[in-house]
Amino acid sequence: MKYEISSSALSDIKADVTIVLVVEKNLKHTWIKDKKILENIGFKGESEEATLVPNSSIVYVGCNNLNHDEIRIAAAKAYTHLKNTKYKSVKVGSYLNKNGAENIKAFVEGFELGSYAYDRYKSKKVKTSLTHLIISTEDINKKSISSQKAKKALERGLIFAQATNYVKDIVNTPPQDFTPLEMAKEAKKLGKLKDVTCEVYDEKFLQKEKMGSFLAVNRSSVHPPRLIHLIYKPKNPQKRVIFVGKGLTYDSGGLSLKPSTSMVTMKSDKSGASAVLGIIKGAQELKLPFEIHGIIGATENMIGGDSFKPDDVLTSRSGTTIEVRNTDAEGRLVLCDCLDYAQDFKPDLLVDMATLTGACVVGLGEFTTAIIGNNEKLQNELYTSSKNSGELTTPLHANRYLKKTLKSSIADICNVSSTRYGGSITAGLFLERFIKDEYKDKWLHLDIAGPAYVESEWGYNQVGASGAGVRLNLQWLLELAKEA
Ligand code: BES
Ligand code: ZN
Ligand code: ZN
Repeated sequence: MKYEISSSALSDIKADVTIVLVVEKNLKHTWIKDKKILENIGFKGESEEATLVPNSSIVYVGCNNLNHDEIRIAAAKAYTHLKNTKYKSVKVGSYLNKNGAENIKAFVEGFELGSYAYDRYKSKKVKTSLTHLIISTEDINKKSISSQKAKKALERGLIFAQATNYVKDIVNTPPQDFTPLEMAKEAKKLGKLKDVTCEVYDEKFLQKEKMGSFLAVNRSSVHPPRLIHLIYKPKNPQKRVIFVGKGLTYDSGGLSLKPSTSMVTMKSDKSGASAVLGIIKGAQELKLPFEIHGIIGATENMIGGDSFKPDDVLTSRSGTTIEVRNTDAEGRLVLCDCLDYAQDFKPDLLVDMATLTGACVVGLGEFTTAIIGNNEKLQNELYTSSKNSGELTTPLHANRYLKKTLKSSIADICNVSSTRYGGSITAGLFLERFIKDEYKDKWLHLDIAGPAYVESEWGYNQVGASGAGVRLNLQWLLELAKEA
């Protein structure tokens, strides 16, 4: 799809079809040419309601207000209404709110995210006639915006959405085709970009580094593990930000085997790692002024004669010993060694992303990412930025009582809590044990188990991967760079 900004009035732009958002159910706006028809067919202009009036070649989409996420959802709904038509070019006006060009970015993002389809394994590929979207800077409320600002917003919307769609492709790829080696190949491709480097480490390195916890998870997989280390380093970076991702290309649960219905979708257990790849891609395209590392622990969690077992005691890279009581709590075992390794690089900010716990989905619902950490201010900062990204998050807080539930009688810590309550926080507390004192306030853990994989479509997210974690972190980084 080609995207373009035009400073011509909406009516002067030539296109096969027009998208008109019906804002706050106001059918009287001059852009609405079919008030009577809309009333006759019972179109109310509710949020997520859309209809195409063929005679005037206009798609009307309801939109509660000019909040940026309303705009994303409306843009995606418009795409859904157009994708099977013969129209090639489409035009739309601007729906500016008080935040400058925010909604131009949001429209492009919503349209591009909404256009995503995963057809790699379909004999018949998904096709659309649409090739071209033109956004007029003429605004619904006659606000004005410079073409330059509008173009920058368009560019950012595309970068955000394309990085997200890139992650969806990775996460959606089935586990027989997306192995840890494939993850490494994908990272190597990013390593070819300007200012990006990529190192891939094999099991010998993991042994040398004494990553006994990570290695244990890999033991019964026929696919070798990989530790992937990407670095995006522009000239004179202001800060060093390190992202660490859980890259379980499949999680069967190991000997603490998952029930068969819970195993389905566990190809998505690589979502944290995949988001790391998306963030590096997006950061490079946005030319962010930070040195950004992406560290990925890639492995499968399988079952076999050589599986690690409940009752095993593992020695992690940090020397901390871990009593295994459940092999399905494997993500934290991979992450603790990766987080320990990450701290060698002296981060100013350290963020890990993982589909870590089912408890998080139970507690927050399937739409929301948990932000866990020791530094409430930092948690709130990311929470505030995420509100500008369209991704939903909420900070969760720990306490001394939850911390005690990870005690082990045989080792330094247990890989699961003694209580099933508060499971997403206790998983975070397990990770926290591996964060050194000087980084305790610089670390955040994002549990993306809910939103990473969509079982029933919502908003602009199709069934399958959503690319959770990419937009919220890119938005945060832009705001940190004071460029938002
Ligand atoms: N990958 C799962 C978590 C998960 C569950 C992600 C559902 C997405 C959807 C993780 O490795 C896991 O199995 N965690 C266990 C932890 C438990 C054994 C303490 C869980 O949540 O049941
Ligand atoms: Zn698991
Ligand atoms: Zn897992």
